[in-house]
Amino acid sequence: MKLNNRVAVITGGASGLGEATLRRFVANGVKCSIFDLNDERGNALVTELGDSVIYTKTDVTNEQSVEAAITRTVESFGAIHINCNYAGIGHGEKTVGKENKPHALETYKRVVDINLIGTFNVLRLCAAQMSKQDLIDEDSGRGVILNTASVAGQEGQIGQAAYAATKGALIGSTICLARDLAEHRIRVNTIVPGLIHTPLFDAFPEKVYQSLESSVLNPKRLGKPDEIAHLAQYLVENDYMNGESVRMDGGIRMQAR
Ligand code: NAI
Repeated sequence: MKLNNRVAVITGGASGLGEATLRRFVANGVKCSIFDLNDERGNALVTELGDSVIYTKTDVTNEQSVEAAITRTVESFGAIHINCNYAGIGHGEKTVGKENKPHALETYKRVVDINLIGTFNVLRLCAAQMSKQDLIDEDSGRGVILNTASVAGQEGQIGQAAYAATKGALIGSTICLARDLAEHRIRVNTIVPGLIHTPLFDAFPEKVYQSLESSVLNPKRLGKPDEIAHLAQYLVENDYMNGESVRMDGGIRMQAR
């Protein structure tokens, strides 16, 4: 699918990997609709990037909130062809912690709610909208969905029981979603990032940051958000990529900690 003149819903588009994808898509002629909770960043991006971007405060876990944001997107831009799901949160907590304290069920549920159920909530509603639209052409079909997992979905570290479960589930459901949506001519792929330098890493002490860099196989540095955006562009543009989870991680294999 060629990017020019297409419409993308980008969850988590106000920050990090979502923002990088937004910038790359806008530069390639895509109209983008940001679904995020960060009003300040979302509105700043609209001011900076102009008419081809709208921001709607949206909680991906909430059905009505996502429905309203989809309605606004279609009213503003006429269709949805691409849905990139980046909204997500990290969480560190051991299954049994200090003083034999069990992992809180509430925090586990919250990570599942945002990372997994939130992703499914948005993609099912975007796919329903895409399925009502005309075919773009025989190869492009009606649309493309990209979800965002993590290498933790395959080799989660200590304290990542909840996070790894959500990311593993996204990897596991990729082929199933692609099969479900094939009759509607919608492709589904999952991006599996390694350590990518988003604002989160700015707070890391220099020594910790250096040790993270040295844990990457080659090149020995963290990934750049635009490298993930580049992969997102490729997965949209290449019509034969479907049902696949693609690691982009400099060859890193995470150790227990
Ligand atoms: P980020 O924290 O910079 O951006 C995430 C965005 O999601 C934020 O703008 C936040 O407001 C939004 N968000 C959170 N909860 C939301 C909700 N309920 N509804 C709507 N929006 C919500 O994070 P980053 O680093 O860009 O990560 C993006 C995705 O990539 C996440 O799913 C993360 O798990 C995944 N990932 C990131 C890696 C990295 O190294 N940065 C590595 C592997 C995976």
